[in-house]
Amino acid sequence: MTQKRVFDIEEVRRDFPILTRKIHGKPLVYFDTASSAQRPLAVIEATDNFYREHNANVHRGVHTLSQEATDLYEGGRHKLARFINASSWREVVFTRGTTEAINLVANSFLRPMLQPGDEILVTQMEHHANIVPWQMLLEETGACLKVVPINQRGELEMDALESMLSERVKLLGVVHVSNALGTVNPVQEICRLAKRFEIPVLVDGSQAMPHLAVDVQALGCDFYCMSGHKMYGPTGIGALWAREATLDAMPPWQGGGDMIRKVTFEKTTWNDVPAKFEAGTPNIAGGVGLAAAIDYLSSFDMAEISAHDHRVLNYATECMTGIEGLQIIGTAHDKAGAISFTLGDIHPHDLGTIIDHHGIALRTGHHCAMPVMQFFNVPATARVSFGMYNTESEVDVLIDALHQSREMF
Ligand code: ALA
Repeated sequence: MTQKRVFDIEEVRRDFPILTRKIHGKPLVYFDTASSAQRPLAVIEATDNFYREHNANVHRGVHTLSQEATDLYEGGRHKLARFINASSWREVVFTRGTTEAINLVANSFLRPMLQPGDEILVTQMEHHANIVPWQMLLEETGACLKVVPINQRGELEMDALESMLSERVKLLGVVHVSNALGTVNPVQEICRLAKRFEIPVLVDGSQAMPHLAVDVQALGCDFYCMSGHKMYGPTGIGALWAREATLDAMPPWQGGGDMIRKVTFEKTTWNDVPAKFEAGTPNIAGGVGLAAAIDYLSSFDMAEISAHDHRVLNYATECMTGIEGLQIIGTAHDKAGAISFTLGDIHPHDLGTIIDHHGIALRTGHHCAMPVMQFFNVPATARVSFGMYNTESEVDVLIDALHQSREMF
């Protein structure tokens, strides 16, 4: 095993060139990692170097560049498989991101098996990517969508979840870490309960990947979906993990080059997994950048990254709790990465604009999770979300800016 880097926040910050930027004359405080993380230099350079030195199509050429590109791209798949403790690289399908991974499962795995009266379970805290692809199957199949409730802290009602499990449920979709609330769901326990009825569980891991050490075998889920850009890699690349036997049994979803073994006008046969699900020229530079992001994350002990993220989250929670009129939406016992909040009557968009003038980037709106907003009866929230480069003194800048905003209004 290679020696891990000690997690030194000042060194980590130096790895992210954008953090030296000034916004409105103030040092950038980037609190929007849940939306898209910043990239370390290693990722930027790997992508740049790929285009400068190795650019060619993959799986298609005997020439040197094509082989180099293939090795780099497929190397990313092997690295990702190891990073999430998959049993084999064949279990990793590259997609554009979490959304495409979920759509792949909806269309290839679930659609062919759904009958009228079947149920798909999702939770009240899902974001749109883990709601809409399932909804799109309902009308044509006669299946229905059922929603596992949450409580006022933004935690899943586990008793309700358990009582909703039955032979009728053909898939349970659950987010590992909620983007809108920060809640960390007990995925291992959920999978254990679902197994009693042999219900396949799909986990949306987009927010979990940058904060937690994810082990797909230990979780016991059937599908795990992730996005490169939330874990310090490029946009437009992500992955679906599923067991090889599951992927083998699924029909292809999109047709085209690379996913075939032999094409004639009479009949076409499919390539092995995972190529069967990767039609057309893929996002090669994205895969190379994602490989660099995995190398970067793996150069630390993931537990140290988690501990750092937790410290900043806890400090921010404590400081924000002391601000008059500030209400934190989502106070689950187990949280990671994000704090949603409202501040008195200030509309979150107005707040976001004022806060931007302090150099702070945070997200405002419904966070692609409108049902969460409906549950808490708010049109929108402001959300600060943290990455491995954030510090407690950046939280102090935020707290100061929030006090000033409150006084202004
Ligand atoms: N789902 C992303 C977010 O939470 C876009 O901001």
